Amino acid sequence: MSTHRLWLATPLDAATMAELHRPAFEDAWPEEAFASLLSREEVFAILGAAGNDRMAQGLVLMRAVAGEAEVLTICVANDARREGIGQSLLIEACKIALARGADHLFLEVADTNLPATRLYHKLGFKTIGRRAAYYRQADNAADALVMRRELGQARPEEN
Ligand SMILES: CC(C)(COP(=O)(O)OP(=O)(O)OC[C@H]1O[C@@H](n2cnc3c(N)ncnc32)[C@H](O)[C@@H]1OP(=O)(O)O)[C@@H](O)C(=O)NCCC(=O)NCCS
Repeated sequence: MSTHRLWLATPLDAATMAELHRPAFEDAWPEEAFASLLSREEVFAILGAAGNDRMAQGLVLMRAVAGEAEVLTICVANDARREGIGQSLLIEACKIALARGADHLFLEVADTNLPATRLYHKLGFKTIGRRAAYYRQADNAADALVMRRELGQARPEEN
């Protein structure tokens, strides 16, 4: 069982989310983007921290609409990685998306992003498409993998 603390974000968490996002992505999203997305009914986000830590160390931002859900972004603070926070966030996101009526969860990830692709495979995501040279990187371009997971099928590590 997870020992992480997870809680639903509100638009008031937008600044915290932007701060978590900034060091994790080259094209990080500003506070205004998080505030705007979180004001939409179909969007929700979960924050997470290890143990009883009060400061958020990770986030997942989701959209669930018309029976489908999508991971808009997910990240964990560098000094809190590999403690299972990302996995806990994603498992909780799947549960909430299912409760909101979604059958499938989709996401996109650069095929060069080993931590993320490993996490998604571990949680049962399957690659259903590839967009060539989708992500611009410093000296080349990475393909985007489109991945999908059926919801409602609990995996052993989620119990
Ligand atoms: C991807 C990310 C969210 C993972 O968060 P995390 O809290 O460190 O991940 P977890 O500790 O929950 O790891 C769960 C599983 O993912 C895989 N994984 C995570 N980090 C890994 C790494 N550095 N190398 C290999 N596998 C890794 C492992 O299978 C791991 O399970 P295990 O520890 O039992 O082996 C985090 O690395 C991150 O914020 N990266 C930068 C932002 C990003 O790339 N987001 C995804 C964009 S699509």
